[in-house]
Amino acid sequence: MKKLNVVSLNLTVAIIDFLYKGRDFQRFWVLEEIARAPYFAFLSVLHLRESLGLRGPVHIYLMEEHFAQTLNETAHLEYMESRGGSAYWVDRFVARHLVLIYYWVNVVYYWVAPRSAYHLSHEIELHAAMTYAEYLTRFPDDEKICEIMNDEIQHYQELAEAIKMIEPEYEQEKDLSSLRRDSIIA
Ligand SMILES: [Fe+2]
Ligand SMILES: [Fe+2]
Repeated sequence: MKKLNVVSLNLTVAIIDFLYKGRDFQRFWVLEEIARAPYFAFLSVLHLRESLGLRGPVHIYLMEEHFAQTLNETAHLEYMESRGGSAYWVDRFVARHLVLIYYWVNVVYYWVAPRSAYHLSHEIELHAAMTYAEYLTRFPDDEKICEIMNDEIQHYQELAEAIKMIEPEYEQEKDLSSLRRDSIIA
């Protein structure tokens, strides 16, 4: 699955790079519009799992984290809009159709293979950070983009942590420690 993630990401990046050559803020806006969808998809699945009585030991932690990430990505999107990223109809048309597909892909992917779904977003966050880093080599004084790049690095690290947290061994450990804690309280 990891190989498939990397191949599909590289292909998508090559297409976006070709289409958005020389149009930095339109490219950033499209990337931010798409990058938000997985967090919303993760939250949707976690809510549904909770409603079905399938709440795991790190469920609440993940919900809080993904909610914070969606808000942070929305702030990025608004900033790109303030710099003209969504000024053209064609960019809005492409991004809003892509995001609809990408949201549902992530819902299914996270439901059936959560670690692989996290890995895909992990790679996307790495790509986002590298995209902003490349821009900063040309415009090193753009402090806001530097701040956004650091947010993407943080998301990348949080996703790496989330992958570890849902490893079966980790869940077992958590179950055991909460059992021990409960028996101490009792
Ligand atoms: Fe972002
Ligand atoms: Fe991000």
